[in-house]
Parts: sequence; structure tokens; C-alpha cells
Amino acid sequence: MKIPLLDIEAQIKPIRKEIDITIANVIDKHHFILGEEARKLEEQIAKYCNVKYAIGVSSGTDAIVLSLKALGIGSGDGVICPSLTYYATAGAIARTGARPVFVDIDPKTYNISIDSVDQILRNTQYAIRNTIKAIIPVHFYGQCADMGQIMKIAKRYNLKVIEDAAQAFGAIYKGKKAGTIGNCGTVSFYPGKNLGAFGDAGCVLTNNKNLARRLRLLRNQGASPENKYKHLCIGHNARLDTIQAAILGVKLKYIDRWNRKRAQNADYYNRELKDTDLITPYVPGYNTHIYHQYVLRAKGNKEKIRKRLIKKGIDSRTYYSIPLHLQPCFKYLGYKKGDFPEAEKCAKETFAIPVYPELSKKQMDYIIKAMTESLL
Ligand SMILES: Cc1ncc(COP(=O)(O)O)c(C=O)c1O
Repeated sequence: MKIPLLDIEAQIKPIRKEIDITIANVIDKHHFILGEEARKLEEQIAKYCNVKYAIGVSSGTDAIVLSLKALGIGSGDGVICPSLTYYATAGAIARTGARPVFVDIDPKTYNISIDSVDQILRNTQYAIRNTIKAIIPVHFYGQCADMGQIMKIAKRYNLKVIEDAAQAFGAIYKGKKAGTIGNCGTVSFYPGKNLGAFGDAGCVLTNNKNLARRLRLLRNQGASPENKYKHLCIGHNARLDTIQAAILGVKLKYIDRWNRKRAQNADYYNRELKDTDLITPYVPGYNTHIYHQYVLRAKGNKEKIRKRLIKKGIDSRTYYSIPLHLQPCFKYLGYKKGDFPEAEKCAKETFAIPVYPELSKKQMDYIIKAMTESLL
């Protein structure tokens, strides 16, 4: 048996006709950038997330870059983010000219550690602390960081909050959708995400009208909505393609069903693995996890288990094997090994296994058997 980490073909098959029709429709209308389907998708996403504005952009990375710029963050500023997340979170900070300020992660949820954020802000000299202007909590693997605590800290230190919800579209924190609590939230529609386009796409969520207006300007070369050749600010070409929006519009109808199925699969794994040495995901009572990834901690056994999975044709992966403070591209920031022990341990000890909605019980049993056999 071969089991991939994500089976895009199985996801598309039942909705292929709908998708073909919607793509043909865009081709017929040939309004390929920010067309009617893009506007419609923005409305649908805003409604789904219960937020006033959704601004469609070209990727989850661009969503972060534009959010930082729209909030006035750039050269000379510091932005706090976890040391274990996808590169794009910190890469986006650096691309605005700001400096990523890394913090550790919580060893249970793998999300940003509130204690680590608190410590950095308490222990940093006043002059340097004053340059820290924002925080980007990442809703890692599909569940939200503790936003209540983050908003309290942000208020105390006057920080802007950008939620990186790239991995958590549809996740819920205390009744609110991921990405709708901070100043804004960013989403990725990369093909491998729970709600994935057929190419790059993303969006920003916000309740702030002015911020939404600035984001719309920034995504489209700073062009005035009244006169596209009048440029009001230095913007980007970071617009949403209409074809991607149309595909996402079809898929959005299924996202709750797919996310629920992922959670059911996760529950099954949790039950079946509870008497093993593997540590299953921890979900605090305030969160609804959407399991973009189902991540297990194996302590010393990880390589043994992964070898067995490879032998059995099962895909697995570590998200992410090198924490950001140890990445060559961030060497200039001066961090060293041991600075963020929980992030380093997580990178060493955890791995994700298939949890996608179309996974059958037979496939899950096969995966469970392969892992438990390797632990004997
Ligand atoms: C946490 C996180 N932030 C940002 C991004 C960037 O999104 P995109 O690939 O759409 O640019 C990703 C995508 O993998 C991600 O996982």
C-alpha cells in the first residue's frame, strides 16, 4: 500500500465537474485578475470567518508582508514570532526591513510560548524593547495560539498583532475563527493547505476599515481605485488570480466537512495510540483543531518509526526539521543552538502522519500497525 501525506487527487475527484465549470466560466469572461469571482470569494470568506473584510492576495507570504507594511512596520522595527514555524513567517518580517525576534514554543501545543514572549519583553533593555512593534503568533498545525494571553501582552506593550493562520483556516478559538482576533490575520491557500488553490493564493482578514483599504492599495501597485495609473503609495503586485478564487469558491463549500473529517481521523489515531509511547496532539479546551497536520512526538524513537513507515510506503514529515533561529539565512541575527530548547526538541522528536479527509479506516489501521510494530 502507498499512502501519501496528502491525496489531492482523492480530494478533487468528487468535485472535479464543479471545478471544471467554474474555470471555464472564468476563461469565458477573461477577467483573470481580481475579477468577479475574487470579489465574491472575499465576501464568502469574510462571512465564513465572521469578519468585516477579507482581502484576497497572491499568497500567504504576501499576506504577511502586506499586513506588516499596512500596519506601518518596517526598517528598524522588531517583530516577535515563534522560532518553529514555516520560514515564510520570519522571511516576511525580514523582507519589510524589520528584524525577526524569535521566541520559544510551548512543548504541549507547539504554539508560541506565552512565557517566552513575556520573558523577552521583560528582560530586553528598554531602548531595544521599544523597537519591538508587533507580534506574529502562528496557529501551528491547525490550532490557535492562546490569543487571549497574546492580546493582553500586546495591549501592555502596545504591539500590533498579526495572526499567521496559514495552517488554520476554519480553526476556532473561544468561538472566534482563526485570524479574526488580532489587528489582522493572514491565510494561505497554497495547494497543500486544508483550503488549497491550484497555485499560490492567500488572503488577509481584518475588522479595521482603514487597514483593509491600505491592504487593497498595497496589493495592487498602490493604485488608486478610481484611477489605476495614479499610484498613492509604493505597492506590490500581490493580487489574487480570478481562476484561483473561483476554485477556492467551490472548495469553500466543503471546508467544514473536510475539517470535521480530519478531526475524526485525529480522534481515531488518538484512541488507538493512547497506550503507546507516542505523544498524541494536545488540544486545550478553548480550541477547535482543524488538523492541517497530525503531529506525533516520539522522543528517541522517531527515526526508527519513520524508517518503518518508509518501508511500508507511508509518507511522513517533520514540520520543521530546522528551527528558524538556526537557519543559515537568519545567521545575521546572532542566535545559537540551545537558545530555544523546546523548538529544537520539537524539530528533533516530532513528525506528521497522513490525516487528510479522504483517508480510509483501513489506511489508518495500516499506518497505526506500522508504527506500533516498530515500537515493539
Ligand atoms: C505558518 C505559515 N506561514 C506562512 C506560509 C506561507 O504561505 P504561502 O505558501 O501561501 O506563501 C505558510 C505556508 O506554508 C505557513 O505554513
